[in-house]
Amino acid sequence: MWDEGRLRYGGDWNPEQWPERVWREDVDLMRRARVNLVTVGVFAWSRLEPAPARYDFDWLDRALDLLGEHGIAAALATPTASPPPWFSLAHPGALPVTADGVRLHHGSRDTYCAAAPAYRGAARRIAAVLADRYAHHPALALWHVHNEYGTTCHCEHTATAFRRWLAARHGDLDTLNAAWATSFWSQHYSDWAQVSTPRATQYLANPGQLLDFRRFWSDTLLEAYAEQRDLLRAANPAVPVTTNYVLGDWVPVDHARWAAEVDLVAVDHYPSAVDGGAEEQTALAADLARGWARHGARLRTVTGPGATADGGAGGRSPGDAAGGAAWLLMESAPNLIYTAGRMHTKEPGRMARHSLAHVARGSRGAMYFQWRAPAGGAERFHSALVPHAGPDSRVFREAVALGEALERVAEADGATVEASVAIGWDAACGWALQHPGLPSQRLNHHREVAAAHRALWRAGFGCDVVLPGDHLDGYGLLVLPALYLASDATAEWVRAYVHGGGHLVVTWLSGVADEHARVRTGGYPGAFRDVLGVRVEEFHPLADDDELPLTGGGTGRIWTETVRLAGAEPVRAYAGGVLAGQPAVTRHRYGAGTAWYVSTRPDDETYGRLLTDAALAAGAAPTCPAAPAGVEAVRRRSARGSWLFLLNHTDRPRRVPAAGVELLTGAAIDTAVEVPAGGAAVVREAAPGR
Ligand code: GLA
Repeated sequence: MWDEGRLRYGGDWNPEQWPERVWREDVDLMRRARVNLVTVGVFAWSRLEPAPARYDFDWLDRALDLLGEHGIAAALATPTASPPPWFSLAHPGALPVTADGVRLHHGSRDTYCAAAPAYRGAARRIAAVLADRYAHHPALALWHVHNEYGTTCHCEHTATAFRRWLAARHGDLDTLNAAWATSFWSQHYSDWAQVSTPRATQYLANPGQLLDFRRFWSDTLLEAYAEQRDLLRAANPAVPVTTNYVLGDWVPVDHARWAAEVDLVAVDHYPSAVDGGAEEQTALAADLARGWARHGARLRTVTGPGATADGGAGGRSPGDAAGGAAWLLMESAPNLIYTAGRMHTKEPGRMARHSLAHVARGSRGAMYFQWRAPAGGAERFHSALVPHAGPDSRVFREAVALGEALERVAEADGATVEASVAIGWDAACGWALQHPGLPSQRLNHHREVAAAHRALWRAGFGCDVVLPGDHLDGYGLLVLPALYLASDATAEWVRAYVHGGGHLVVTWLSGVADEHARVRTGGYPGAFRDVLGVRVEEFHPLADDDELPLTGGGTGRIWTETVRLAGAEPVRAYAGGVLAGQPAVTRHRYGAGTAWYVSTRPDDETYGRLLTDAALAAGAAPTCPAAPAGVEAVRRRSARGSWLFLLNHTDRPRRVPAAGVELLTGAAIDTAVEVPAGGAAVVREAAPGR
């Protein structure tokens, strides 16, 4: 199942919601669509264990056997994201509590506290029973632990665990008091018992406490995952184990750190924008997943129908094959985009384009939520490969076509995704910038990463997402957008990279604080002042509809700064307002490298030009310079060849210079390929071009 050159295709299949005659129709339709992997049992706990320690596995036995008979593999879930009603009644103390002390009740999902011993015990038990029964089932290809870890809790179990975690991190209370700057507002702790989770407060909460709580909760959820994983692995070490990541800046999970604990990174991606934005978001989500996966996720050997080969070395350098840094699009929506306030129907072709965009960026397949749309339940109108209308529908016909397309392009599976620019990302920066006491409410690490990524995506550069400390060999340019927190080690990482000849772009708000969110005094951007050759004296956040003109054209938004030159040369200046004539963008030679500082958020076009200038000066090149506007190009390479993925996001056919074989149609391409309107082309290149 996990051997290279084969893409996984399918979605969540919920036999517990349907009579068995529908299962048989399901597997026939799956065969028609060439589905080869389905996720089973994610929310089936109350059907598997209808009363404490009374199990009903007959239906799951029959469902898995049916899949096996039809050559369809299963990603079997542990159902721990939704404990049954009997559990909550028996253990009210394991129900989650909000920051303002409200205990939440049964009736939805995620009705547990991940730190509650009763919940953890019950979760381990059901995982162990499933492992015991199914670890050697011939249809089993993957364990899918839980679902989208991310919900928090503020109960006493959590507070106790938090104190334990803090003691391990800080050692003693003096160190904790210093890290959290508790002399401010009389918060000095003299006994561990005084320390609590960041409950609802009268006014602004302590930034260090908030940040540590996020880190602690990520570790707590990881511990809950790892307990189940270890049981599953012990039952059959050959079957890979993962959990599906939910994306979003609210998520208290450090996905990169988790990557070392999963066999492949699995992400659920649901774009929230409709026009154009969905494609940019898709590209970023896939680049993030690949970046996280390089922090450890590696598939191990599986034999039997779910068989895999060892994924390879993995590691933290760019250029790892997908097998060594494995990731999979585990959930996406076939025909809908969920935007604020409504569901938007994806236009014909968009589902395939989104899936191919993920595959182009290294996903080992394309999986959906969900196989068949349910008739009842809270998510009855969520999208599905088999919609309420049934298989005689546009969506299912597109699903069938996609199954065929994935088989045609599968030869690119496992090849390295080409990237010449690295963008820095850090979960803790995202969390730290959520504190309400910052100079502007519009500061958001993820949004700034997305803005830089969007500018480079539009300019056609392949990007990798990296974390502070990652190897940077092979990248022309490193971009650090709003990297607000920087430890001394991060400052040294940046210094060494530029000193050794690297090209760097740092944007506003970077390096301002240390890893505890304490401001580095003496001038911003504290950690990076020497490399950038600037000293920022003051921030000037802008109002929502404000923008300041820049020399050379374009405007700055959201944020501006008083930048003093300390070795750097001005590249652009503010051309209006109180900062008129003062530097807005600077460049500094440092060692053998070059470091740019951008003290405002340029409009998208100006940002694109600036980053393109910096990337070209650094020797980086777009993936396919001749691709027309609106056509996204991604190249993958391996010892077996190179593949150029072309995704046409416009409503007109577009011609792109290429030579080789177009895999979706099988056509030989001499000089140029025509990419259909809203469609895709994947060219096995005769001679990889630039
Ligand atoms: C998530 C969950 C699924 C479902 C979908 C709905 O990704 O994992 O259970 O709720 O969203 O879009």
